[in-house]
Amino acid sequence: MDRILVNVIRQFNPETAHNITLKLLKHIPLPLTKFEDASLVSNINDLTFSSPIGMAAGFDKNAEVFNSLSKIGFGFVECGTVTPKPQYGNPKPRVFRYSEEEAIINRLGFNNKGIDNFIINVAKRKFFNTPLGINIGPNKNSINFIDDYSLLVDKVHDCADYITINISSPNTENLRKLQNKFELEELISAINSVVKTKVLQKPIFIKINPDETVESYMDIVDLITKYSISGLIISNTTIKREDSQRATIKNEIGGLSGRPLASSSNKILERIYRETKGAVTLIGVGGVSNGKDAYQKIKLGASLVQLYSALTFKGPSLVNEINKDLVKLIKQDGFKSVSEAIGSGI
Ligand SMILES: Cc1cc2nc3c(=O)[nH]c(=O)nc-3n(C[C@H](O)[C@H](O)[C@H](O)COP(=O)(O)O)c2cc1C
Repeated sequence: MDRILVNVIRQFNPETAHNITLKLLKHIPLPLTKFEDASLVSNINDLTFSSPIGMAAGFDKNAEVFNSLSKIGFGFVECGTVTPKPQYGNPKPRVFRYSEEEAIINRLGFNNKGIDNFIINVAKRKFFNTPLGINIGPNKNSINFIDDYSLLVDKVHDCADYITINISSPNTENLRKLQNKFELEELISAINSVVKTKVLQKPIFIKINPDETVESYMDIVDLITKYSISGLIISNTTIKREDSQRATIKNEIGGLSGRPLASSSNKILERIYRETKGAVTLIGVGGVSNGKDAYQKIKLGASLVQLYSALTFKGPSLVNEINKDLVKLIKQDGFKSVSEAIGSGI
């Protein structure tokens, strides 16, 4: 039934299709029953996850549908990226869908309604025990990116279960420079000063891009260890087009996600897990479209997994399907719970 709906919605351009989907999720009761199983439950950074599969950032930029996302089976939901002030983003068209490759290119540029509207929406959260991550980023025309992050951490800290510092979107000029050692140290220490003022300190994750050198990832690992950052989200979209032969994909500017991102994001996940060996939490993202893909990331060291692109191609029942497949895969390997499988493929 939802595959039919997905095909109907897909007749619209990707951004309109997304807006229709948000409206449906907001206003129509979902016919799906959430699949749950004890073997999928885990406790990470003092949060309980009913499933390791989460909604990646960018789908629910303004925190409007996190409730419905939890109901379709996600074990956690990351909302945002939210910026201090509302912003339109880049000119349209800015999202491109490639169904055969199960890939998306976007150059949205943090289109969102701003932090004040976002917080009002999160405050409506009642009886919602699914961990809610808040992904933050600076405004495009900000004079000082680090000040934007500090302000946002201060504002979202008490209503988030965890906070993601997004320094990896390719669609905001100069944002990725924050992944450089010196800039990143300045950013992390500014964020830490804000977090230290809070009574109950929340986990902080940094979301990284998949296009850097191994040395640069090792610098990041050193810094997050030095400053007790909870972990990394690996990864955001790629500006590389190595795994795609299609001229349209090669020539379109923006971040590529979906199937062609899987191998590069997995390589970085594996490399960083080898280095950190469970000392920090790793969240794997990029090209997950079935239970096997998700399980692969877990075996490569991800404690949690997120997805976005596949949901637009396969519809909401995908999340239950992945959870069911994961239960089987965990059992097949002789594990009692998903936590036992983390890093088992290394
Ligand atoms: C249309 C679109 C918008 C996105 N917006 C954001 C965003 O605002 N912030 C962010 O951190 N990641 C954003 N992402 C990246 C996803 O969170 C995810 O890291 C990436 O798509 C890889 O996962 P996937 O292959 O499962 O899609 C966006 C992705 C897509 C497709």
